[in-house]
Amino acid sequence: MTLGDGGPITLGEGASSGTEVVSRRVRIQTTARPQTTTPSQRATSPDRDGASAATGRAVVFDARGVSVSYGAKRALAPITMKIYRNLITALIGPSGCGKTTLLRSLNRMNDSVPGFKLEGQILYHGHDVYGSAVNRVEVRRRIGMVFQKPNPFPKSIYDNIAWAPRNLGLKQDLDERVERALRDAALWDEVKDRLRDPALGLSGGQQQRLCIARAVAIEPDVLLLDEPASALDPISTLAIEELMQALKPRYTIVIVTHNMQQAARTADRTAFFSLDDNRVGTLIEYDDTEKIFMRPADTRTRDYVTGRFG
Ligand SMILES: Nc1ncnc2c1ncn2[C@@H]1O[C@H](COP(=O)(O)OP(=O)(O)OP(=O)(O)O)[C@@H](O)[C@H]1O
Ligand SMILES: [Mg+2]
Repeated sequence: MTLGDGGPITLGEGASSGTEVVSRRVRIQTTARPQTTTPSQRATSPDRDGASAATGRAVVFDARGVSVSYGAKRALAPITMKIYRNLITALIGPSGCGKTTLLRSLNRMNDSVPGFKLEGQILYHGHDVYGSAVNRVEVRRRIGMVFQKPNPFPKSIYDNIAWAPRNLGLKQDLDERVERALRDAALWDEVKDRLRDPALGLSGGQQQRLCIARAVAIEPDVLLLDEPASALDPISTLAIEELMQALKPRYTIVIVTHNMQQAARTADRTAFFSLDDNRVGTLIEYDDTEKIFMRPADTRTRDYVTGRFG
């Protein structure tokens, strides 16, 4: 089975194990005593102690020595990490360390960026995302994305959600599909009586949930969220976080966030990136969220999550 033929992907064994909905609260402490391990040890053996959130889960993305450049400028040093099914994985780190670059590389959103060059390999359910036979439209169908700034189309609420299904020829039972997506995004009750109204008339928080509904309307496998709550008030932010927990049993979610509490509250696994001496983004540490916040292995992680740096 290839990504290119448009058929279903075999998602691998152990895929149905992720049905827990957990809203964990990890307190951030300031007294962690890091030890020294190499980034490659940490990044390549995330479930080494057998008690990880990743244990027994299917691997959705397997990034192997992935580095990214824009023209002559290297943005991301080679990173190796696995992202697991039905978990929420947070990418954190200071501005410019390559979080968005990595996120957008997972579904080939960077392909049209002038000078973009990716080395190494990203496997998605074992398929090389950048393989020559891969259909990019199919990649984007499986791997949905929501951006920092809500970007509804200048169309009605209904047409925003129906747009992608229509494009893909999924025209049967469209009303039901639209309703399901809006319910999934916890927006239905607020908009069910105004589906033909312009989406741009919604509040910022509603617009962002609309964008999530638009992404889930074609039932992707993965949701990539790039700082989805950064422009929202605390109540809308919590609504997005609750939504992520509710969606987790059906989706694999990767979220970029600058909000440490948000990462601690929502993510099962957290990857901390930073800038090396040449200002190239590098993966410092990747582990269960609780470990990253409570017992980080690297002083740079500790300094960042405790607010001493960044
Ligand atoms: N389209 C682009 N063209 C050229 N360089 C880019 C492009 N996008 C990102 N970069 C560069 O790549 C590096 C990583 O950027 P990226 O946007 O991935 O960082 P980030 O971690 O998401 O930062 P932030 O937290 O500010 O969003 C930066 O040096 C940035 O200037
Ligand atoms: Mg970014």
